[in-house]
Amino acid sequence: QELLQKRRDFAGLCCLVTAGATRETIDPVRFLSNRSSGKMGMAIAEELRDRGGQVTLILGPTHLEPPCGLEIVRVESAQDMYHAVMEREANADMIVKTAAVADYRPVATSEHKVKKQAGNLMLELERTPDILQELGMRKRPGQLLVGFAAETQDLDRYALDKLHRKHLDLVVANDVSKADAGFAVDTNAVRIYDASGLLAATPLLSKREVARTIVNHMCDRWRRNQD
Ligand code: CTP
Ligand code: CA
Repeated sequence: QELLQKRRDFAGLCCLVTAGATRETIDPVRFLSNRSSGKMGMAIAEELRDRGGQVTLILGPTHLEPPCGLEIVRVESAQDMYHAVMEREANADMIVKTAAVADYRPVATSEHKVKKQAGNLMLELERTPDILQELGMRKRPGQLLVGFAAETQDLDRYALDKLHRKHLDLVVANDVSKADAGFAVDTNAVRIYDASGLLAATPLLSKREVARTIVNHMCDRWRRNQD
């Protein structure tokens, strides 16, 4: 009976979620990107929506159909995502940064297709803005900030380092070197931390089930932040 009754524990809360990869343009036919598909972020957005949240999903390029019943903002580059997030962050009760934002972009974008030539090609790259770091600096009292950490080794150390460095309430780490956890698959296994350390470690589950666990921890933390 309880299963049939949907929890509405996010009713009226304004939730900002980012998902997917970003694309950094090299020339009219080429870009730099990564393996993220946006599935994990979409699953979190759906879970928040089903629990009553008013969700805005800022979504990088993906062939997947985005969920209905929420506001979708399509972006391409890290810079686009930065602007889309910063325009909306002041209104958000909680922000979940699932997106795999490119860390580097080409210093210059070529107007015309780059032609091949003898020998190697050097591509000069510069850092993109760290959106989550900026959100951590701007964070309002009571606002909930959740980051992700995609790692291939030393999950606990790197994830907690990101939590402290970016002033996060929660950080969700996944080992992206495992074939069935992480990029572009329907399953994931995550470890969730707050400043006191590890809160939960899930087994391999569907991304929707992982989303439910993450959102449950967000709910606990949100309630405690309001006290
Ligand atoms: N992030 C961001 N803006 C960036 C890079 C990352 O907002 N330019 C966010 C991601 O959305 C994620 C978190 O920061 O929630 C951690 O991303 P991750 O790539 O794991 O860590 P980085 O801080 O970029 O460090 P590194 O890639 O060197 O591990
Ligand atoms: Ca990164």
